[in-house]
Amino acid sequence: MSTDLRGQSIGVGLGRLDGVPKVRGTALYAYEQPVPQPAYLHPVQATIAKGTVVGIDTGAAEALDGVLIVLTHLNAPRLVDTNDQELLVLQSAAVGFRGQFIGAVVAESSEIARHAAGLVEVAYEPAPHDSAFSVGEHDYVSLESAPGLPRQVSEAEIRAAIAAASTAVDQTYTTPPEYTVPMEPHTSVAIWHDGILTMYESTQGVHSFRAGLAPLFDLKPEQVRVISPYVGGGFGSKLEIHAQAVLAAMAARELPGRAVKVALTRQQMFSLSGYRPPTIQHVRLGADLDGTLTAVAVDVLEQSSRTKEFSEGSDGPARMMYVAPQRRTTNRPVVLDVPVPTWMRAPGRCPGMFGLEVAMDELAVACAVDPIALRVRNEPRVDPETGQPHAFRHLLDCLQLGAERFGWGHRDPAPRARLQHGWWSGIGVASATYPDWHEPDNAARIRFEADGTYAVQIAAADIGTGSRTALTQIAADALGCPVQCVRMEIGDSDLPRASDAGGSVGTISWGAAIVAAAEAFRDQHGADPPLGAETEAQAPEVNDGDRSRHSFGAQFAEVRINADTGEIRVSRMLGVFSVGRVINPVTARSQFLGAMTMGIGMALHEHGVMDPRFGAIVNHDFADYHIPTCADIEDLDAIWLEEHDAPSGVSGARGLGEIGIVGAAAAIANAAYHATGVRARNLPLTPDTFLS
Ligand code: MOS
Repeated sequence: MSTDLRGQSIGVGLGRLDGVPKVRGTALYAYEQPVPQPAYLHPVQATIAKGTVVGIDTGAAEALDGVLIVLTHLNAPRLVDTNDQELLVLQSAAVGFRGQFIGAVVAESSEIARHAAGLVEVAYEPAPHDSAFSVGEHDYVSLESAPGLPRQVSEAEIRAAIAAASTAVDQTYTTPPEYTVPMEPHTSVAIWHDGILTMYESTQGVHSFRAGLAPLFDLKPEQVRVISPYVGGGFGSKLEIHAQAVLAAMAARELPGRAVKVALTRQQMFSLSGYRPPTIQHVRLGADLDGTLTAVAVDVLEQSSRTKEFSEGSDGPARMMYVAPQRRTTNRPVVLDVPVPTWMRAPGRCPGMFGLEVAMDELAVACAVDPIALRVRNEPRVDPETGQPHAFRHLLDCLQLGAERFGWGHRDPAPRARLQHGWWSGIGVASATYPDWHEPDNAARIRFEADGTYAVQIAAADIGTGSRTALTQIAADALGCPVQCVRMEIGDSDLPRASDAGGSVGTISWGAAIVAAAEAFRDQHGADPPLGAETEAQAPEVNDGDRSRHSFGAQFAEVRINADTGEIRVSRMLGVFSVGRVINPVTARSQFLGAMTMGIGMALHEHGVMDPRFGAIVNHDFADYHIPTCADIEDLDAIWLEEHDAPSGVSGARGLGEIGIVGAAAAIANAAYHATGVRARNLPLTPDTFLS
């Protein structure tokens, strides 16, 4: 498609602008940045789940040729800001989880560092630990539902409503620990020069990264520069600072003139870069004979870590999805001696919509109502949680369009109706949702360059989503020029202030700042600006008009399950999404398909297996932690509604990076029930689920 469209770039399927340098290997990721005198760090990790380091012998490591320094809690410099326990590396002898950093070797090569790390001798005094996530005797974060929740009834009222209902579903659903496993591991390169710390970092937000890192070293944010032009995937795991970055900065300060590089190994990532915590979801639905909900109750347990509290928030979607007079959700993080969980694509909504949407399918069966008709019947007129009118809620449009495209009308009414060549097949549906958020704190700068192009600068991140390309299109339209005349500069904390690539807010929030800067630039310099003309502007506040703002979608899946072996395959999948105006259909489609693929992984493969005796995830590599490969993906498609609602963000666009995973696993589990008559409530759906 031609890209020479003056002022008409939004909506064009422009190929990603950094595709060629990435494929050629000229796009430099953090670890590949050329730095003077690089040194290589390899950490030493705790081999107990809880206790104290009582002896650590670094003699053999230090004696090795090429070793520059060995850091332990005995000689590591003191960190200043002590708020975040996950980042307080080598500050005491205490061990809070297996895999925690207890030392680090820096050497002239990564091989020497790794070898030397293996020579460090550690003696422990272990303490009793609790690493088994279950319903039972644990420490809980006292957080009986989120504060300030309106429209909650008591547990007694829920029990009464369920007892009085014509039909009820009362089941428990579980999701396991899941890992973001981005292709580029968590990587930091640290250099100190004249009291200024420069970090080449694989991060989803250079400004929040430096704001979090600076106080640990008693620096002002301006004394830290974070450079991150390319990021090989994050999925949420590169929103928070992780301990390897602190270790790199600490080691580099001890080695003046040297740049210290660390890239976590795949196995280290399972302890040190976060994960989606496992959940246990007790879902109760009460309904009239025709499926009209009378009660919705969701009580969630989620794993948290004693080192640092984390709440996934899986009860969230049940508060706003469907209307019901009696409603209650609670959420209790279970505090264990385990690695620290973190954000992972569509936190809360993704696991929460597994339990809720499978329960809705169970209710449809119990009431003998079509699953789509059940959702139509329970569609709220206003947001059930806040009572606000919806700014845009097109769930039913997504379900209807998907039903037509997917051939829902031909679905057998009863389960276990289709057996062909030894494979049962069936189709299922589930809803998707994700909030429409905006980050107001963004600024952009535009400068007219000698070569006739516009440099458009904002410290945004492109973690592989295509945001660099979409922002170029937004800038081109705002300036009224072809995309070839725009040069996007992102990923550097020296650029104007940008919020994170998280919560699906990136492109629309950064885009709003770019549009504001373009308007200010034209006001100041006109259509024919002088060379060097420059303007910086802030994004305006978004006024949400007291309306409920969520995007919606519908996921359709067809599965086949081998009658003899239980092997399950996703034969066909269609996602239909309502996300406002789409800036770039190529990169948007790629986000949806990628997220749905991740949903297939969640449904069929992904399962971090905790051995509670050792507090360790035993399948901590790609040999044993399975994610989908090309061979697992057959017919996958994503489409979206044409929308003409009042504009939300830039040009009426909303975020779309996360909604594509929401509901995907539920649609697959519901299809599996339709195929076999076996109701799966625990992820992933391994073959034994279907063998009885
Ligand atoms: Mo997303 S988990 O907010 O990067």
